[in-house]
Amino acid sequence: MTDRKPLVIANWKMELSYKAEIALARSLKSRLKGLGEVEVVVCPSFSSLESVRTQLGRSVIALGAQNVHWEEQGPWTGAVSVHHLRDLVTWCLVGHSEQRKLTGQDDNEVVQAAMLLLAHGVKPVVCIGESFEEQQAEASVEKVTQQVQALLAKATRASLTKLVIAYEPLWAIGSGVSPDPNDVAATMLLIRKLVAERFDEQAADRLRILYGGSVTPANVESFLSEPGVDGVLVGGASVHIMQLEEIVMKVRDCYTK
Ligand code: PGA
Repeated sequence: MTDRKPLVIANWKMELSYKAEIALARSLKSRLKGLGEVEVVVCPSFSSLESVRTQLGRSVIALGAQNVHWEEQGPWTGAVSVHHLRDLVTWCLVGHSEQRKLTGQDDNEVVQAAMLLLAHGVKPVVCIGESFEEQQAEASVEKVTQQVQALLAKATRASLTKLVIAYEPLWAIGSGVSPDPNDVAATMLLIRKLVAERFDEQAADRLRILYGGSVTPANVESFLSEPGVDGVLVGGASVHIMQLEEIVMKVRDCYTK
């Protein structure tokens, strides 16, 4: 049993309409009423953040954005800056592989975005993970090490209680294929070892690390039963109210056992 509160983040991507996001937030709020054991975050599209926020009101569900630009301001048509998000959201994903692919952002820019969010009081969810090719070339450890070290070079010890790392192997995202839970546990261990080397064991013990990639109600327990997995980042399954609720309840049950 750890002191790290379990976390479920629902990444709604670009799957729903404005109205559907608001309706989903409304149902989720009533279904999860009173839930205290799990932290739940929903990440709708930028354009519905304000309305979803109003809908959630004082519920237990927190709001997150799906992305932020790594620069504070500038001539970036279509991008959204931290100055827009800071008054709206508690959380923000950074470095999601779909955004890395779209914008070509590298690890330094992802870390820059994470630092910017922290400076403005928003909690970053830093997404990392190896590609299919890297996994095939047995370069997963190297890739994760490089991404975590890039983050740890800039993060302070204190910031590790605010930020979250989401390990999402790229080949598992939206594919219906997921890694062996033992391999996920080994990656969590690797990340904590890197944090302990950079800071200390206590800092490593405080950091929350999530697994993401084709999480469903059917497989969520297999990840959560592994040591060091503090929750899940869910894409596809999270836009279905019954599935999302089931995932949240299974996470709760795993941690209160
Ligand atoms: P998925 O997406 O659950 O649909 O695989 C996860 C993610 O992209 O964060």
